[in-house]
Amino acid sequence: MSASTIVITGTSSGFGNLAVRRFSAAGWNVVATVRKKTDLDVHADLANVRTLLLDVDDEQADLAFGDLAKEQFGRVDALINNAGYFQGGPLEATTMDQVHRQFQTNVFGLIALTKAFIPIFREQRSGVIVNVSSISAEAGYPYTSAYEASKAAVAVLSEGLHAELAEFGVTVKALFPGNMETRIFSKVDRAEDVPQDYLASWEAFGAQNLVRSDPQITADVMFRMVTDGDTRKVRYYSGPDGEAIPRVKRLLGQDWYWDEFSARNRGESTPLWDALMPAPKR
Ligand SMILES: NC(=O)c1ccc[n+]([C@@H]2O[C@H](COP(=O)([O-])OP(=O)(O)OC[C@H]3O[C@@H](n4cnc5c(N)ncnc54)[C@H](OP(=O)(O)O)[C@@H]3O)[C@@H](O)[C@H]2O)c1
Repeated sequence: MSASTIVITGTSSGFGNLAVRRFSAAGWNVVATVRKKTDLDVHADLANVRTLLLDVDDEQADLAFGDLAKEQFGRVDALINNAGYFQGGPLEATTMDQVHRQFQTNVFGLIALTKAFIPIFREQRSGVIVNVSSISAEAGYPYTSAYEASKAAVAVLSEGLHAELAEFGVTVKALFPGNMETRIFSKVDRAEDVPQDYLASWEAFGAQNLVRSDPQITADVMFRMVTDGDTRKVRYYSGPDGEAIPRVKRLLGQDWYWDEFSARNRGESTPLWDALMPAPKR
C-alpha cells in the first residue's frame, strides 16, 4: 500500500514546521503550505514533502486546494489546520479590522479549507482533520479576547463537525496547545493606542505567562492525534500548562476554577493554584 498523505498548513515555522518533519520521518507524504514565496524551499531537504503556496485568508484558494493537494501524491488521508496568528491587547484598543483579520485567518480560512477536504474524505470514507485551537480558549485570559474567541470557535466547530462527519468514517479533533516557544510571540498583531489605564495590569499579566515549552511536544501530539485510531476523542492538550488547565477545571469545578484563575490573573494566586499549575520559567 502507498504511504499515507497529510496536508499541513502554516509550515514556515513553529508547530507546522516540526509536524512536517515528524510525519515525514515516519514515512508519510506531506503536502506542506507556506504563504510566502521565500519560504517555498523550507522543506527542501525532505524528499517526501511538496511545499505549496497558500494564504488561508484567501477563501477561493482554500476551496480549490483539496483537489490540488490530492494531485500531489494521488490521495489525502489527513489535514492539520495549523496556520494562525495571535492578536493581543485589550479589546477596547483592538480595531474591528484587527478582529476581522484575526477571524479571517484563524476561523474563516480554516473553515474554507476544511470544506475543500470534507468531500474527499466523505467519498473515500476515511480521513482525520486536526484543528489547532489553543488552551486560551479554555482558560479565559484577559488581553487575549479576540484570539481566544477565534480559538473557541475552532474548538466548538471541531466538536460539531466530529458528530456530523463520524458516520462517513471522518474524524475531527481539536488541539489545545499551551504556551510554546515558537515565532508566534514575535509576530503579535498588537492593539494600538492602549489607554494608560490598562498598561500596568497588562504588563503584570504578561509577566505571569512565562511557561514556554518545547514546541516539539505539540508536533508529537499532532502525530498522535492523526495516528492513534481513536475516533471518539475530540479534545487533545499539549504542554504542561495545556494539560493542567482541563485537569484543574475538572478537579475544582468551573466556579472554583474561575475564582482561582481570576485571582491568579490579578497577581493574587493562592497556594492551591500555585501547587496545581506548572511554575513559570524565570
Ligand atoms: N505557540 C503557542 O504558544 C501556541 C499556543 C496555542 C496555539 N497556537 C496555535 O498554533 C498554530 C501554530 O502557531 P505557532 O505557535 O507554531 O506559530 P508560528 O511559528 O508563528 O507559526 C504560524 C504559522 O502560521 C502561518 N500563517 C499565519 N497566518 C497565515 C495565513 N493567513 N495563511 C497561511 N499561513 C499563515 C505562519 O506563516 P508566516 O511565517 O508567513 O507568518 C506560520 O507558518 C497557530 O494556529 C497558533 O494560534 C500556538
